Amino acid sequence: MPKTPDYFAGKTIIITGAASGIGRATARIFAREGANVVCADINEAGAQATASEVNGKGSQALALAVDVTSRQAVNAMVERALAAFGSLQFLFNSAGAAIRRAKFLEIDDALLEKTFALNVNGTLYAMQAVLPHMLAQKHGVIVNMASMAHRRGGPGSSVHYAAAKGAVVSMTMGVAREYATSGIRALSISPGPIQTPFQAAAQSSPELIKRFLDDIPMGRFGEPEEIGELVLFMCSDACPFMTADTVYVNGGGGWR
Ligand SMILES: NC(=O)c1ccc[n+]([C@@H]2O[C@H](COP(=O)([O-])OP(=O)(O)OC[C@H]3O[C@@H](n4cnc5c(N)ncnc54)[C@H](O)[C@@H]3O)[C@@H](O)[C@H]2O)c1
Repeated sequence: MPKTPDYFAGKTIIITGAASGIGRATARIFAREGANVVCADINEAGAQATASEVNGKGSQALALAVDVTSRQAVNAMVERALAAFGSLQFLFNSAGAAIRRAKFLEIDDALLEKTFALNVNGTLYAMQAVLPHMLAQKHGVIVNMASMAHRRGGPGSSVHYAAAKGAVVSMTMGVAREYATSGIRALSISPGPIQTPFQAAAQSSPELIKRFLDDIPMGRFGEPEEIGELVLFMCSDACPFMTADTVYVNGGGGWR
């Protein structure tokens, strides 16, 4: 929660990946706080559904169809957000995916490139697009979605994804430190398994569910709201000395 009541009222956040899962849950939470929410996603219908929910809570929303792997599309997203709301305080890069599971020797160029285009390029493009505006107003908070996977390395199924999320952690660190005295904070979040469509494949396999749960002392998956509330805290005025690092949210486990 913010230190100042109504801290978020009238301020604007862009959320990529807002059509689903963690992005959508975070959009609802910022709407609850009275923020303007730009709901960006490659899934236009999903982005619109999230925007309707934000409007339903009495906050203002803008739904945008955006493929974050296109620098041009990401730049246009930021221009449209600024045209709609005048200024921009927060960016949450939630769009991301492992694309598909593959053993290390089965990772081909196409899978590697797609995974990096989405998780790494998309995050970098959005940070580069918002930073000039944030620097001009001497304030801005960027939150990027990493994953526990970057600590585990994704053995047996997702080294490509783990490496991409490792790059997200590093980029966030670098941006935070480069602009630390310019009013900019940047943080990343590294969750364990969270109950969203991202986990649909795992959830269809009792054996995989058991493997995940055996490694989580709390004995359950996280809920997307449990990440969204952290994004709210990170963006708030309650933690002005907090920048650069990744925060693990994993029920105590996910290290195997
Ligand atoms: N759910 C988990 O267990 C988990 C764990 C660790 C990290 N993460 C990360 O959290 C983030 C959110 O995941 P989620 O669980 O909400 O998944 P999700 O699949 O529910 O949502 C991801 C969203 O990203 C959007 N997207 C995909 N490609 C896009 C593109 N090119 N341009 C714009 N949008 C695009 C999808 O349409 C979808 O709405 C991802 O970065 C994911 O890697 C998830």
